[in-house]
Amino acid sequence: MSRTVYVLNGPNLNLLGKRQPAIYGYETLADVEADCRRVGDELKLEIEFYQSNAEHQIIDWIHEARERAGGIVINPAAFTHTSVAILDALNACEFPIIEVHISNVHKREAFRHHSYVSTVASGVIAGFGTQGYQLALQRLARLIDESQQ
Ligand code: DQA
Repeated sequence: MSRTVYVLNGPNLNLLGKRQPAIYGYETLADVEADCRRVGDELKLEIEFYQSNAEHQIIDWIHEARERAGGIVINPAAFTHTSVAILDALNACEFPIIEVHISNVHKREAFRHHSYVSTVASGVIAGFGTQGYQLALQRLARLIDESQQ
């Protein structure tokens, strides 16, 4: 299985560090990307890191990943709670998918408690701050390793 992993980020995550820091913290998305690349190196994963505010762009990256990746880490942000289209794209993938939320969505408004993406995810990480991305990559590396045994 490919050791390329797509790390996909949905709308408003470009404002990480500036947007509601009491909820999302002060680390920027560039900091998260640097962390993912460092952890990716340690785990021998090749990281493709993207963010978009546009649903169609995220879907296009999922289609690209479907052809060349061994897994996806995705923080779909608000699309988590709304997007059947992103769910359908993920359902077309045959590799493991880990869903990440920086905040503990279950402690927040009721509309954040439902996730379309969770129905396809191998695992879900929420409320671990930006460290959740590193934990997701560790899990994905394990799943990729196990699939090769
Ligand atoms: C989020 C949680 C979502 O409910 C929210 O819409 C986001 C970020 C998180 O990382 O905690 O934009 O996915």
